[in-house]
Amino acid sequence: EKGGHEYFMLKEIEEQPAAVANTLRGHFVDHRIVLDEQRLSDQDLRDVDKVFVVACGTAYHSGLLAKYAIEHWTRLPVEVELASEFRYRDPVLDRCTLVVAISQSGETADTLEAIRHAKDQKARVLAICNTNGAQIPRESDAVIYTHAGPEIGVAATKTFTAQIAANYLVGLALAQARGTKYPDEVAREFRELAAMPEAVARTLESLETARSLGGELAGSKAVLFLGRHVGYPVALEGALKLKELAYMHAEAFAAGELKHGPIALIEEGLPVIVVMPSPKGRAVLHAKLLSNIQEIRARGARTVVIAEEGDETVWPFAQHLFEVPAVPTLLQPLVSTIPLQVIAAEIARARGYDVDRPRNLAKSVTVE
Ligand code: F6R
Repeated sequence: EKGGHEYFMLKEIEEQPAAVANTLRGHFVDHRIVLDEQRLSDQDLRDVDKVFVVACGTAYHSGLLAKYAIEHWTRLPVEVELASEFRYRDPVLDRCTLVVAISQSGETADTLEAIRHAKDQKARVLAICNTNGAQIPRESDAVIYTHAGPEIGVAATKTFTAQIAANYLVGLALAQARGTKYPDEVAREFRELAAMPEAVARTLESLETARSLGGELAGSKAVLFLGRHVGYPVALEGALKLKELAYMHAEAFAAGELKHGPIALIEEGLPVIVVMPSPKGRAVLHAKLLSNIQEIRARGARTVVIAEEGDETVWPFAQHLFEVPAVPTLLQPLVSTIPLQVIAAEIARARGYDVDRPRNLAKSVTVE
């Protein structure tokens, strides 16, 4: 059942190429992005003047990534909010607001209440969900299913990467309907997305270092994560995985915030996991993050670096290095998340914990 793996989570990590490929399938037909045609027309998408993304936990981290893509492709303002905060804040919503509710289970009470509130205010609700016929898609105006297959491990892995793919489909559909991207640009972006399962599969082939790192970091008191731009939500997701599986204090920072406080935490031997941007894609961000790594190394941090294949500039500062394939900037989270999932699972395993069933957590959170 676990496909020869000790834990479902490791099997599910390896199913990510298929999860992404299956989520994209059927959504590009006759050179056009197709969402849920019956329930969300092109006219509906053209009427949108603002997007809210609501979700919890890992799904929220995928939502943070949606903001980078949707704003970049459509020039629509996007706000991403924890579902549990959303409706208590009196958010500004009307019939031209698109609310994207992301939920693996489709039963999360906070997310469900958030969409009920959005619907009361006449907003349009699009669900991204992994569970057929669950409550959230039933109460939404339209749905895109992530076809990741059932996820047994309590920690979300393959549903996270599938959510990223689904979120990007929403961005491309909005860009297509609104004309902010030409049809051939939309087609190119889709092709790049459709090439990701292969890049994810390649990332999965070289995870030996992640495995050995489990034992080495298992005794640490805390682990910090740093990222910038789309690497920041990836860092947040890496920290969440480590908290929930290994019961370690783990915290993620936007690397630019380091000097505004968190750098005071750096001490000899503290592991810091850094998600590097591509040196080609975002050279400016890359240079800034490189100087951040130098700063923390100088203060004794033990650096674990996720970087693009062949990025030699990081080698002198990385005590442990994971290379991921070179892919377009917005798509990098689909590969850079993978080593973080494996590191968290391996640290948990080294500490003797049940990776599939972490303490105090339920797969589906149906109370607020
Ligand atoms: C973390 C995790 C949780 C869920 C969150 C939302 O690994 O699984 O943080 O992501 O509880 O659940 P769904 O997506 O079912 O709404």
